[in-house]
Amino acid sequence: MKAILVSGSRNPDGQTAQAADAVLRGLTAAGASVERVFLPTRAIERCRQCDANGWGLCRRAGRCAVADDFGTLVEGIREADVVVFATPVYYSDLSESLRAFTDRLRRTCTHEAGRVSIQGKPVIGVCVAGGGGGGAPTCCASLERTLSTCGFDVVDVLPVRRQNLQAKLAALEAAGRWLASRPRSV
Ligand SMILES: Cc1cc2nc3c(=O)[nH]c(=O)nc-3n(C[C@H](O)[C@H](O)[C@H](O)COP(=O)(O)O)c2cc1C
Repeated sequence: MKAILVSGSRNPDGQTAQAADAVLRGLTAAGASVERVFLPTRAIERCRQCDANGWGLCRRAGRCAVADDFGTLVEGIREADVVVFATPVYYSDLSESLRAFTDRLRRTCTHEAGRVSIQGKPVIGVCVAGGGGGGAPTCCASLERTLSTCGFDVVDVLPVRRQNLQAKLAALEAAGRWLASRPRSV
């Protein structure tokens, strides 16, 4: 089984990474291989809203017209069996890099061709409020809505705050282990 982490944090040692790594530990314990992507280190433009009506190649062909790292990352997601989306909580919402990526992904998923190997793919979300600690549940709702719009099977979205990060690591790891070992029908 292949798993891919798509993280909206740039820090491979930060709080978001600690939480995401716990999910990945669970996945690897159940036999998965993992790849990590830190979106702020990749070239991901925001959507250009290409046509006058606000749409573009996304709606006509399920692809994005912008030539940057988006296409390669989407291919990585298509090749994975499960996906972990992690984000630091910014203003009670997704980080800008994950927002830019998912804004474009949900558009390409409007078209049947864009949804290939995405529709029904199991994903887990993790939202880490690493400052005051507020906003993780709101961020989770935003992430769940966005990923569901893309067509993913959002099996769980876990809120974490700085104050309970250490306590939640075991639950995050259990979520990853469960995701890798669950019967296909669950
Ligand atoms: C622009 C911005 C907005 C933020 N908003 C929140 C917030 O709403 N709630 C919170 O607890 N922390 C907030 N933080 C702190 C981040 O959640 C914290 O820096 C992050 O979880 C840790 O980053 P890392 O996981 O990438 O290391 C914010 C940080 C930034 C830069």
